[in-house]
Amino acid sequence: MFKIRTMNKISPLGLELFPRDRYEVASEIPNPDAILVRSADLHNTEIPETVIAIARAGAGVNNIPVKACSDRGVVVFNTPGGNANAVKELVIASLLLSSRKILRGINWSAALAGNVDEVPELVEKGKSQFEGPEIRGKTLGVVGLGAVGVMVANDAIALGMEVIGYDPFISVDAAWNLSRAVQRAETLEGLLARSDYVSLHLPLSDTTKGLLNAEKFRLMKKGSRVINLARGGLVNEGDIISALLTEKLSAYVTDFPTAELLACEKVICIPHLGASTPEAEDNCAVMAVQQLMDFLESGGIKNSVNYARCRLDQRAPWRLLVINRNIPNMVGQITTILAGMHINIMDLINHHRDEYAYNIIDTEQKIPDEALARLRAVNGIIRVRTVVNPSP
Ligand SMILES: NC(=O)c1ccc[n+]([C@@H]2O[C@H](COP(=O)([O-])OP(=O)(O)OC[C@H]3O[C@@H](n4cnc5c(N)ncnc54)[C@H](O)[C@@H]3O)[C@@H](O)[C@H]2O)c1
Repeated sequence: MFKIRTMNKISPLGLELFPRDRYEVASEIPNPDAILVRSADLHNTEIPETVIAIARAGAGVNNIPVKACSDRGVVVFNTPGGNANAVKELVIASLLLSSRKILRGINWSAALAGNVDEVPELVEKGKSQFEGPEIRGKTLGVVGLGAVGVMVANDAIALGMEVIGYDPFISVDAAWNLSRAVQRAETLEGLLARSDYVSLHLPLSDTTKGLLNAEKFRLMKKGSRVINLARGGLVNEGDIISALLTEKLSAYVTDFPTAELLACEKVICIPHLGASTPEAEDNCAVMAVQQLMDFLESGGIKNSVNYARCRLDQRAPWRLLVINRNIPNMVGQITTILAGMHINIMDLINHHRDEYAYNIIDTEQKIPDEALARLRAVNGIIRVRTVVNPSP
């Protein structure tokens, strides 16, 4: 029986995937094998020694002490792309909000409420001040073509926009999913110079902090619009406010309000609603649970933030799983111990990421406790466990 401790309310759509005969799932459960979490902060929570995996139903893992987990051999999973459609829909809304003065118009209409009989007339008289351009036929520059960026680019094509994408690290999966109508920009500068709208879909890091700044705004067309539902720090706040005040840019839509941005009339501040849909919560919970079950039952790793992706179809009856430091001669020592105990290896895969490596080793014979003890004693081996193939 696997024991799963839930640290937040997790969507029932995910929890229902745990077969009741093999899993015990509860918020108060002693000695859990794994933790399922959304936003609870694990930095100051004691993670029991029994835990071998933590799955976050969401993308960011700031609430998990990832390095400490890696050192202990705890695999941390997240659910990238689980909320991509939710973000994409808000980006499409943002494109329209940045163009059509919808919000100012709605607020103005609301203030007419007291003028009982004259409302229709006042509306017709006043509406011209809220005119704004259509997006069809305009050029959208999408910076970052991952889970969200690809969806935004494809849907913008469907809305009749010209779309240019820039992503020097695009994945093969993303490239497969991208519409052929999306044009490729060789440089960020080239994309900015051609776009009427620019939407950011890349992570915030030391290299992308302040990616859009005064120097970049100078390259952009006069009156262009910026949408940033990725991370606030990607845009230099003082510089974008200046660009808006000098009418270089005509609107900025962000999911990351600050006092300075709220004070600027041309900034549309959304209160971090990008992933706030019940569907996104469901998707993330389902992904987190599926990844956790695969890892616990067969040792497969997909969407981990601290260990390499590693999966192996299980044909042999017995499976050994070893986490070790990424140093020379680890595989040699593991296979020597197995060979010394006459255990025949049928299949083996070893993948590493940064300081850590992971091995899935399928064997013909059951691995005796003595072999497990010898493996655990090897300097550099962090964790050893076995799983049985239910249908060899
Ligand atoms: N507002 C929200 O609630 C919300 C929700 C989900 C994600 N996000 C943010 O949106 C961003 C995109 O999410 P995603 O799921 O598509 O992530 P993703 O990891 O699938 O895609 C990110 C893409 O950015 C690309 N990239 C990295 N550095 C780049 C650079 N310097 N220039 C151009 N491209 C670069 C990567 O190659 C990758 O393809 C995330 O970083 C996340 O912070 C926000």
